Amino acid sequence: MDQAEKLRNMIKSQNEATPRQARVITVTSGKGGVGKSSVAINIAMQFRKQGKSVIIFDADFGLANIEVMFGAIPKYNLADMIFRGKGFKDIIVEGPEGIGFISGGSGINGLGNMNREQVQYLVYKLKELETLADIIIIDTGAGISDSVLEFVASSGEVLLVTTPEPTSITDAYALLKALNARSSFDKELCTIKVVANRVANHEEGKNLYNKLEVVVSKFLNIQLKYLGSIPLDMNMSKAVMQQKPIAIAYPNSLGSKNIENIANALLENKEAEEVRKNGLARAVANMIKNSIVKKKQ
Ligand SMILES: Nc1ncnc2c1ncn2[C@@H]1O[C@H](COP(=O)(O)OP(=O)(O)OP(=O)(O)O)[C@@H](O)[C@H]1O
Ligand SMILES: [Mg+2]
Repeated sequence: MDQAEKLRNMIKSQNEATPRQARVITVTSGKGGVGKSSVAINIAMQFRKQGKSVIIFDADFGLANIEVMFGAIPKYNLADMIFRGKGFKDIIVEGPEGIGFISGGSGINGLGNMNREQVQYLVYKLKELETLADIIIIDTGAGISDSVLEFVASSGEVLLVTTPEPTSITDAYALLKALNARSSFDKELCTIKVVANRVANHEEGKNLYNKLEVVVSKFLNIQLKYLGSIPLDMNMSKAVMQQKPIAIAYPNSLGSKNIENIANALLENKEAEEVRKNGLARAVANMIKNSIVKKKQ
């Protein structure tokens, strides 16, 4: 049995043994700077308001997105848990309204060098994490890097953020195309929900979605869903400057209200509750598996 196969078996037995799993929502985009972290934080706020426990996992390794937006500095990150014996109580930082967040840190680059026990420990811990919250939101980096694609491919539910800028739409398409080519992506099990950000009005958001949907259904045969739009609202960037979620800084702004609608649409979606793949544990495990395979080549 090679190492990759051992890992697969290990994940399988972990999956069979675990009763409860959080809903895992991965926020991604083709182009950078389109509003992923803003969407991640602000839907988390809304989920909290609805009584859900939420943990945001900042998977934009090396870039401190969430912590800067929350104005909180985590002492430890995921790598401290795997390599330096820290527990969830050390690496989960409490943000506004009791939202938990975990910094991926740059240590994730060392994941490919983990030995079997460390991998086993990480998968075990991530399964544990999935029992600690109702919803886990993964904020990924932009683009079609291996780690982003693996997180996306391994999530049951993906929010694809795009803006009306032509490059944002073509980059969103490029991401979907790269995703489609991955063996770990199962289009039957993954719902991709499009959020149109920085739009002039709802009509522009809907048009943007229609444009993307036409090419995606023609060339990729991936099922997309339209989740809604968020207008261009300067209160969004003002809130970032204040290191506060918009729901706290400008709760009555148009941006805040529209994100509220998007979060509610997600919560109302009952089918998503049933489609629970092992988002986080599976994504990280697949990432490690890939790097093991690559090293062998
Ligand atoms: N609807 C909006 N209206 C106005 N400004 C916005 C809107 N959405 C996001 N912004 C602003 O755009 C900037 C980028 O947003 P954000 O950091 O959330 O994007 P991102 O996709 O996470 O970026 P990165 O790819 O670098 O992680 C921020 O300053 C944010 O305030
Ligand atoms: Mg970001």
